Amino acid sequence: MRLQWNDSVTGAVGYLVVHTLRAGLATGGTRMRAGCTLSEVEDLARGMANKTATFDLPIGGAKGGIDFDPKDPRALEVLERFCEAMRPWIDAHWVTAEDLGVPQHLIDEVFEKLGLGQSYHAAISRAADPAATLERVRRGLNAEVEGGFLLGDVIGGYGVAHACLAAAVSWGQTPAETTVAIQGIGTMGGAAAYYLHEAGMTVTTVADAAGTLHCPDGLDVPALLELRDGYGEVDRSRLPDGVEQLPRGAILSADADILVPAAISYAITPDNSYDVRARVVVEAANAATTPEAEAMLAARGVPVLPDFVANAGAVAWAWWLLLGQVDDDPATSFDRLRTVMHAKVPQLLAAWAEEGVTPRETGHRWADAPAPVTAPVVIP
Ligand SMILES: NC(=O)c1ccc[n+]([C@@H]2O[C@H](COP(=O)([O-])OP(=O)(O)OC[C@H]3O[C@@H](n4cnc5c(N)ncnc54)[C@H](O)[C@@H]3O)[C@@H](O)[C@H]2O)c1
Repeated sequence: MRLQWNDSVTGAVGYLVVHTLRAGLATGGTRMRAGCTLSEVEDLARGMANKTATFDLPIGGAKGGIDFDPKDPRALEVLERFCEAMRPWIDAHWVTAEDLGVPQHLIDEVFEKLGLGQSYHAAISRAADPAATLERVRRGLNAEVEGGFLLGDVIGGYGVAHACLAAAVSWGQTPAETTVAIQGIGTMGGAAAYYLHEAGMTVTTVADAAGTLHCPDGLDVPALLELRDGYGEVDRSRLPDGVEQLPRGAILSADADILVPAAISYAITPDNSYDVRARVVVEAANAATTPEAEAMLAARGVPVLPDFVANAGAVAWAWWLLLGQVDDDPATSFDRLRTVMHAKVPQLLAAWAEEGVTPRETGHRWADAPAPVTAPVVIP
């Protein structure tokens, strides 16, 4: 189902695509970026359906997208009007969340203003005790974790970091021997960088919308993250010594073992796929690699760990929280996600190394396997 919304005030255009409903529910974040298109939102909704199927979540896939600059001072009003227009869906069927250009706290504010509590409203309203579920969700999202972050903001990036760590393990390399470059250091890329740095991997290069930052001996990731603004951009006037500034596109050709696109969709295309020097691409961003570019990478022996596995920790965790399978104790959430990533990623890379089957193809086989017949989902 495709819906298009035209904002009569600013001319912004918004889209909702529902790929699959399961028990009347679909999940997927809402992004805002100038230039967002219907076909992009369709790709993202399809990706969400792959994620929920791969992680056996009892829900279909959907996505929202708004073609508007998130830095425009009217961005919040636009998001409010979009959500208001989508009210029948967000009230009853569509569980949305943060995405590119829309942080979780902002979308939650909008839902609260609309009298819908929080962005997981459509699921929470079905719970046996909605007030208790809302409280559990809020406590989980806002649980404080090391580094001064909130669990809900870092869990997706934590999963990406463990996808990278599992890749290094499968090559028989220690984190200390492994280098990584990350495009985008907002919610996903920033958290991935933090946990990779913490695990001892050398983050040589990161990029934000303003350009690429590089230090061959390894960037001081926590210090850089401190310098970010609300849009995930680093203040260049306070860069630590020894950090080289490069053009934005330089991130793709960084000389690192692992490349993590964690910003825009369609970042790796046939035009730039030959620039990629990494041994593996780990997609933190949704639809980061075009199919043609992925085929070109595969032909050069570079596998792509697909978005619907690598970054799916974000949506899987939200559902574990809704279903009461994790709570506001970060250790439980981290343990579960780490275990899942270290189980899935080696299988993807083994099928690639031993049978030449791309990780995306193996992931699709998982997603396409018939869903287990289970009792109706009860949200406690
Ligand atoms: N936030 C989530 O929960 C979540 C979950 C799964 C997947 N994703 C995907 O991860 C990607 C990033 O989302 P986010 O929530 O981290 O976004 P964000 O807005 O928090 O951060 C985006 C980052 O990318 C940078 N950036 C933007 N354009 C860039 C460009 N052209 N080149 C280099 N850097 C650029 C920004 O400066 C910022 O550092 C998106 O594709 C999103 O769909 C997000």
